Amino acid sequence: FFPKKNKTVIVEYSSPNIAKPFTIGHLRSTIIGDSVANLLEVVGHDVKRDNHVGDWGTQFGKLIYAIQEWGSIKEIEASPRPVKILVDLYVKFHEQAEKNPELVDRAREKFKLLETGDKDSRVLWNKCVEWSWKEFDFIYKKLGISFTENNGRGYGESYFEKDLQSVLDELKKKKLTKKSEGAEIVEFIAEKYPSLMLAKSDGASLYATRDLATDKFRKDKYGKEVLIINEVGAEQTLYFRQLYKLEIMLGWFAKEQRIHIAHGLYRFKDQKMSTRKGNTIWLEDVIAEAESRATKLGSNSTVGPEVAIASLKWNDLKHTPQQDVVFDWEVLLNMQGNSGPYMLYTFV
Ligand code: ARG
Repeated sequence: FFPKKNKTVIVEYSSPNIAKPFTIGHLRSTIIGDSVANLLEVVGHDVKRDNHVGDWGTQFGKLIYAIQEWGSIKEIEASPRPVKILVDLYVKFHEQAEKNPELVDRAREKFKLLETGDKDSRVLWNKCVEWSWKEFDFIYKKLGISFTENNGRGYGESYFEKDLQSVLDELKKKKLTKKSEGAEIVEFIAEKYPSLMLAKSDGASLYATRDLATDKFRKDKYGKEVLIINEVGAEQTLYFRQLYKLEIMLGWFAKEQRIHIAHGLYRFKDQKMSTRKGNTIWLEDVIAEAESRATKLGSNSTVGPEVAIASLKWNDLKHTPQQDVVFDWEVLLNMQGNSGPYMLYTFV
């Protein structure tokens, strides 16, 4: 997919979610996306590195409700890993909502407040963003990864809040949407894709609406010729097909300008890692484990951290993105075979 002529290319990768764990899937996106950006840059393209952080959506209504009801800002603030507490609160919300479905309405009201600019909700949301960035910054620094857009943080979903209405208006004007039980949807009859919802019946926006606004912004900022690459897990393949098709229907882009690099899953050989803490794998723990193992690998322990990161990256990049990757410490940090340490050794 490398363009022949030099051009502006936006590579969007990593894209973790605020107040949620930075997952192994986000790690894959970060590693692959960064490498694609590096390769495009080295052959002369003007590469923009963007991070489509998930910092908006109805889940923030649940989170705000949970923090206000059961949380302590002081405790979260003092914690070295605030996101862990936020995730626990979010889990608690779902547990409680199962017993008391009325909470879902309360959360919806909270999100409405956030959307309409309520000050307290906004302050709390902002705190969640900063708490999460504590973790993201740590991880990106370890991985040696940075972004060029929006002062290094990337344009998250919330940035496009203000542009959603104009996107919905354009869709309506071009007669692409249709009302269905109060919601606005787009149908893809010829492609036989399911329909895509762009506004809920209560008016709330969706992931797809925010993606459209993002791409419109990119087109306006970097020109109609821009190439946009999304590095996102293969589970979103159908969604990206719908999105790209809709952007063609809108007349924004040609087919070749939109590329989804889809990555497969990580599978774990070491069961312990996948089941711990109710299926959450904390990337900080993975990095710490890699560093400790890498440090024991050779006689020069000072290079351990670098070998660890290189090995995590190599373990991923030696596969094509679409493939699933088996996560096996024995393979990852081995002095033999197609492993990071062996590649480094050979290079040296
Ligand atoms: N935040 C999303 C997730 O964790 C990924 C965003 C991918 N990019 C996009 N433009 N939709 O699943």
